[in-house]
Amino acid sequence: MRIKPEERLIVPLDVMTLQSAKKLLDTLSPAVKFFKIGCMLFTASGPAAVDEVKKRGCKVFLDLKYFDIPSVVAKSVQSLVRMDVDIFTIHTLGGFELMESVVKVLWNEKTKPIVLGVTILTSINEAFLRDVLGTSDISLEEEVRRLAEMARSAGVDGVVSSAFEIEHIKSICGENFVVLTPGIRPKGAEKFDQKRVLTPKEAIQKGADYIVVGRPIINAPEPLKVAESIIEEIRTASKEKNV
Ligand code: C5P
Repeated sequence: MRIKPEERLIVPLDVMTLQSAKKLLDTLSPAVKFFKIGCMLFTASGPAAVDEVKKRGCKVFLDLKYFDIPSVVAKSVQSLVRMDVDIFTIHTLGGFELMESVVKVLWNEKTKPIVLGVTILTSINEAFLRDVLGTSDISLEEEVRRLAEMARSAGVDGVVSSAFEIEHIKSICGENFVVLTPGIRPKGAEKFDQKRVLTPKEAIQKGADYIVVGRPIINAPEPLKVAESIIEEIRTASKEKNV
């Protein structure tokens, strides 16, 4: 998929107040053109956070991971489209019917955001899955791929996945199936709680369409400089890969 290099980097507004979000936006929006709003900020400030991003001419990834009965999620998505959100997430564990109902709602909308399925959160391990699903015969990787395939057949545009799964997911679901990947660290940056990380360059080489980089930018002494250098790294890697 052809995406501008500066729109491949998504910075999460992982803050608890609109005031802090505005400060971060003012610092970063000269270079960063895509911001993620998750349940932390959205619970605190609601659609006002989306407006603040849009006001600065940037795009919004609303990461609320919808998981409810299909009719409720479908109606929520109608409101989300009115907010002019560019990417949003639903849970693939919500099932085929949930995903399909969201895709169908979007058919009737003039502006169509990209809908991504969340497969298995990286905080979940095989022991957790065994406890929740009550079966001992489960491979996390297999589960991620199975859910990605189900998302694709429901008409969902792509998935959120670890960078280590990108190549496999693309080989199953096709090159145009969007993959957005967190857990990205510039060379030498602190990992924080992310266990397996790749650099922005490596992620693009593996086929990531979008990458999420938070703390290495937000906690840096000069956040804008770090963001600019990541965008430059993405630009070079995209050119080399011809995407
Ligand atoms: O780069 P950093 O680790 O700070 O990014 C954290 C952001 O990425 C958070 O907003 C978190 O929700 C998101 N994320 C993640 N791991 C996932 C999915 C999303 O860290 N598997």
